[in-house]
Amino acid sequence: MEENRPSWTSRYAFIITAIGSAVGLGNIWRFPYIMGQNGGAIFLAVYILLISTICFIPLLNELYIGKLTKKECVGAYESINKNFRFLGALNPITGILIASFYFIVGGWIINYILKSVFYSNISDYGEYFSNFIEQPVYPVLLTLLFLFICIFVTARGIKNGIEATNKILMPLLAIILAFLVIVSLRLPNANIGLEYMFKPDFTKINTHMVLAALGQAFFTLSIGMGALLTYGSYIKDDKNIVKSVYTIILSDTTFAILAGIMIFPAVFSFNLEPNSGAGLVFVTLPKIFSQISGGNIVALLFFILLLCAAITSGISVLEGPCATITERFKISRIKACTLLFILISIIAIPATLSFGMLKGCLIFNKSIFDFLDFLTSNVMLPLNTLFLCLISGWYIKLKGNTLIKNKAFAFCFDIGLKFIVPIALILLMIFGL
Ligand code: PFF
Repeated sequence: MEENRPSWTSRYAFIITAIGSAVGLGNIWRFPYIMGQNGGAIFLAVYILLISTICFIPLLNELYIGKLTKKECVGAYESINKNFRFLGALNPITGILIASFYFIVGGWIINYILKSVFYSNISDYGEYFSNFIEQPVYPVLLTLLFLFICIFVTARGIKNGIEATNKILMPLLAIILAFLVIVSLRLPNANIGLEYMFKPDFTKINTHMVLAALGQAFFTLSIGMGALLTYGSYIKDDKNIVKSVYTIILSDTTFAILAGIMIFPAVFSFNLEPNSGAGLVFVTLPKIFSQISGGNIVALLFFILLLCAAITSGISVLEGPCATITERFKISRIKACTLLFILISIIAIPATLSFGMLKGCLIFNKSIFDFLDFLTSNVMLPLNTLFLCLISGWYIKLKGNTLIKNKAFAFCFDIGLKFIVPIALILLMIFGL
């Protein structure tokens, strides 16, 4: 089986696909509202500090373990120690659970693309959004459509599916984002939004905000969901991954900052609130689109941008479970993807309905959607990353100097892997719970 494993056709293909995994709704939807809720510029400063230091370590580690073992998640852990197999299985399980709520938002985006032409006819965007997500059939169909698109790409394989899609969608995403940034910067009073983003108020720094920044940084890099380990397993032996890790972090952060520059000047220009939470993109922005000239086109482009980002991340999260099912059960990708489609639908349908029909169905006092988000973001992602760091640092005794030439830097990697990242992850989980 191993000899038949696919590998990336070029370094560029790997990098663009890994960036595609990182740049997702986390950058364009989640980052601006978390930043809006946590004081703007100071959050950005802390976030950049954390993503370029602490997050570098688990990202490099996860890719490296994939590259080293050349196996899907379960096989990778198993080849380190048979007893770790179960810990490995948690990764694709996390991927399936994440897909089950993330893809719902993918469905919402498709609705907004279809509706963008008629924006100006809507009088109350908040009401429109809540009426839409509460419907019993339409949002479910859209979730399944988005799932189908991602499954279809994944089933086509690494070269013809995942690589090919990322090579088209990522440049498109960059072009649309650049255009929308210019549109936003040309609005009156755009400078207030820029000040909000780049003029830090150091008195606003607090533990809650630091941990929120750390959580966002882990989430946006797609660490701990099995995607990067699997992507890493397709890297050829002769490739140096340290440089790729820098490129991924730098690109992901640039996309997040540009998303902020696209959103905040517009929000301030229209005297709206930057801290409206998850509704920022689905309620606040459409309100703005309806008031600017050419707003329909801008809206259409914006939601196409979101869709591209969601697809490239969505296929990465499917690749983990797809590779595991294909290689463990020795079945074709098409069969594995069909199975995944069924499995994810079983969880995603009730989760989609948890905004309407199943509103009253609570798990630990949370709706099904919120519970899945909470369970994966606050428990499973940090836990998977924690296990992998502990395994590499304490069990395999991975040394930084096998990967990194600079001695001081390699030393920091060692300390980070063994102590700092595990402690940060434990704090994150305690805070999240
Ligand atoms: N890096 C992704 C993002 O920022 O949106 C994280 C992610 C979440 C990837 C969910 C894939 C996924 F299905």
